[in-house]
Amino acid sequence: METVATIDALRGIVKFWRDSGDRIALVPTMGNLHAGHLKLIEIAQGLASRVVASIFVNPAQFSEGEDYDEYPQSLETDSQKLCDKGVDLLFAPAIEEVYPENCCTYVEVEGLSNILCGEVRPTHFRGVSTVVCKLFNMVGPDMAVFGEKDFQQLTLIRAMVANLDIPVEIVSVPIIRERDGLAMSSRNMYLSIVERKKAAMLYRSLRDAEVAIKRGNNSLRQIEIQQCNWLKNLGFKLDYFSIRRINDLSVAEEGDRELIILVAVWLGAARLIDNLQLFVK
Ligand code: PAJ
Repeated sequence: METVATIDALRGIVKFWRDSGDRIALVPTMGNLHAGHLKLIEIAQGLASRVVASIFVNPAQFSEGEDYDEYPQSLETDSQKLCDKGVDLLFAPAIEEVYPENCCTYVEVEGLSNILCGEVRPTHFRGVSTVVCKLFNMVGPDMAVFGEKDFQQLTLIRAMVANLDIPVEIVSVPIIRERDGLAMSSRNMYLSIVERKKAAMLYRSLRDAEVAIKRGNNSLRQIEIQQCNWLKNLGFKLDYFSIRRINDLSVAEEGDRELIILVAVWLGAARLIDNLQLFVK
């Protein structure tokens, strides 16, 4: 595996591959890689002849007071994991390479960036769409692979690609979970042992809501309130527990069939998100 830190070096290698007829997939990450990230790599390898992984902890998507300074950085171990996995190229730029001085252009997906996580993290999605757009321009991949764990992010990126006519295919990968159901996340390491045990209840609440929706005895809003209360009683601090339409993340109403339940909570120092897709017959 080669590792490059500059856009010039990256483009040189990608051009060589492209001229040789390769199909190129990009897997963007912020590092501290776990089995969820590695699953994206596997899927990318099944679809393309060359896989580029990027590791860049993007300051633009952290608001003031968030965990940018503490965000776990482990380039050496990450690099070894990607190498073992057979990744072709790691792009690990410094901040100045991505955001040179006087950088003043942003990509904002209106609407989608202000709901759910965007309500409590006002500049987060602008940072995500901007850096992902820049990575697409730097690499020029045929496809890019994202996890459904960050479903709002995935929806936003699909919208950006469609709206800006970016010639990249977006591939999504289902959530990879720990044995007890907790969605894998770099932020799970902020949990104490007791909190880590409790964290599994987040997935349980999604499953309970799914059962309740399918049973149909309570309204969607009642189910949201029940699950919020259940999680609050367990000690979670709720940002939201919301049942939405899967296509545009608007608020779901009775009779909608393609739904997604999204949850975001704080447990101690960790902000955890999770979601569950369901189809109501
Ligand atoms: P990061 O949190 O490192 O995640 C990188 C990719 O891995 C994202 O597409 C995310 O959805 C996926 N992922 C994380 N945990 C997963 C899990 N348990 N199962 C499946 N996929 C999982 O998301 C970001 O970085 C950044 O916002 C980024 C897109 C790189 C832009 O900076």
